[in-house]
Amino acid sequence: MKVLLINGSRRKSGCTYTALCEAAGALQKEGIETEILFVGLDAVNGNIDKAVKEAGELVKEADGIIVGSPVYYASPSGEVLSFLDRLFWLYGNDMKHKPAAAVVSARRAGTTASLDVLNKYFMINEMPVVSSQYWNMVHGNSPEEVMQDKEGMQIMRTLGRNMAWLIKCIAAGRDQGIVTGSPEERVHTNFIR
Ligand SMILES: Cc1cc2nc3c(=O)[nH]c(=O)nc-3n(C[C@H](O)[C@H](O)[C@H](O)COP(=O)(O)O)c2cc1C
Repeated sequence: MKVLLINGSRRKSGCTYTALCEAAGALQKEGIETEILFVGLDAVNGNIDKAVKEAGELVKEADGIIVGSPVYYASPSGEVLSFLDRLFWLYGNDMKHKPAAAVVSARRAGTTASLDVLNKYFMINEMPVVSSQYWNMVHGNSPEEVMQDKEGMQIMRTLGRNMAWLIKCIAAGRDQGIVTGSPEERVHTNFIR
């Protein structure tokens, strides 16, 4: 069993990475393999198709997905949004029904608005959203500051354990023949017709 953690920050080993590592550590303790994917600037420097294709192959193999982003102007980073727009459009089916969570890192504010945006990718794609003991956020401007956010770090560990539990429950259910019901034919209405 494996969880893919997507680091949507421009900084490879910054605050978002620090939060993702804490969640990954808790997942590993529960016997779940983890991989942290750094998207970096690839989503905005002309390499988005290549970056999304690479991630698409990884999401096919993953049993769960965690997306991390810094807060920029009270929103997720532009990089992560460009990347997710494309990833969900092209590989949404490969992520359907897989547990997912978003985590955000901020110096001070804009965390809940950012989580709201990120969680919506999962919710339109029939992915169970995994929660923690508080909303999935850490605070800091540097990894050192984030590590001082004791509550934030604990939130990441609880998130990791909860995701491990849910992935195992889904696998156990599948072994017992419990699968998602057959989908209905999709109804698609626009506001104007
Ligand atoms: C362009 C930019 C915009 C930012 N906007 C916010 C903001 O709206 N609220 C906030 O609390 N921090 C803001 N920050 C600070 C970062 O969210 C914070 O330092 C974060 O932990 C960085 O994560 P990273 O090291 O993974 O990039 C901003 C930083 C940058 C570079």
